[in-house]
Amino acid sequence: MQDMKEFFAELMRPPVRKIEPYDAAPLPGAKILLSANENNAGVPEGVLSAMTAALKRGNRYPDSRNSGLREKLASRFGLEPGQIITSNGLDGMFTMLARAFMDERDDVVCGECTFGVYASNAEIAGAKTVKVPLSPSFRQEPMRFAESVTPATKMLFFCNPNNPTGCLAAEDEIREMLEAVPRRVIVVLDEAYTEFSGTDGKRSFGLLRDFPNLIICRTFSKIFALAGLRVGWAAAHPDLLDCLFRVREPYCVTSVAEAGAAAALDETEFLKSVYETTVNEREKLCRVIGECGIPFLPSRANFILMLPGEKTDALKEAFREKAIAARYLKCAGRPAIRISIGLPEENAEAAKAMRLCCR
Ligand SMILES: Cc1ncc(COP(=O)(O)O)c(C=O)c1O
Repeated sequence: MQDMKEFFAELMRPPVRKIEPYDAAPLPGAKILLSANENNAGVPEGVLSAMTAALKRGNRYPDSRNSGLREKLASRFGLEPGQIITSNGLDGMFTMLARAFMDERDDVVCGECTFGVYASNAEIAGAKTVKVPLSPSFRQEPMRFAESVTPATKMLFFCNPNNPTGCLAAEDEIREMLEAVPRRVIVVLDEAYTEFSGTDGKRSFGLLRDFPNLIICRTFSKIFALAGLRVGWAAAHPDLLDCLFRVREPYCVTSVAEAGAAAALDETEFLKSVYETTVNEREKLCRVIGECGIPFLPSRANFILMLPGEKTDALKEAFREKAIAARYLKCAGRPAIRISIGLPEENAEAAKAMRLCCR
């Protein structure tokens, strides 16, 4: 086929020319998937039957504002439905935030080692990213984020617990940051992993009373085990959400996904068991990693970040041999490997691979 690269490159908006396409497919042939921080326990039966029932009404458009799900979330978290918006995964939320608010004149503050979609959306919009370094102990320090705000800053992203480092900032540190940030800056608090952090899942919403520039983001992709269904949601001041509703694709959450998400909220036993297993397994894996002499960061999420230094290649090879998909990245200039906490038998295989690399 004729090469049309240059032809289409000319047509593209200039900021898009610099963007690499996103591709997070795990290794071909991988049998144990520990690369995407999913919930490997699978979709609970009750959620499957709710989605099957919704499939039968697939000839109808969904409720464009997902009112049923928003009402359920509101009553679960002590919010008003008008304070809630749903999206096609949180990725879809970040796209809406960029579409509604960012352009070439703006700065966007985010971590130097954090979820990459914040920066890529800013870059697509033509905005400039200001990256906040991690502390020497690899923590994201909220006040450093506030100090990085410039007169041009439009938005600030803080991921808590942070992906990929797993560290959690305390609520009073977040409040202190919000107090220091001017109200003209939208602060996005991404709590995709909050359910694994052992904190009260409702408390951060209390901040919305004092900070109308705050938007708190949650997802059904992690503990709720619905990554493939693509449902994210956020809570914020209704007038902030009005800006997002203007750019939101009308049916971006399907009726099947909405039914699955609403049912997943009722899976109390499943959620409790996933949380407890994750915490136990996280401790066990940390112990093994420590015994193997591999530096790692303590985690409050469903993954662990290792900084294996000269052991990186050996560890990569050990995972490859066991057909384990992990995530290979750079964090603060150092090679890093992030593994998700999987099922106990999957983690046991990961532990065996790590023991092969013991000192
Ligand atoms: C911190 C963080 N935020 C958001 C997302 C995106 O979640 P979703 O599947 O809802 O698009 C992820 C996915 O891994 C994530 O790690």
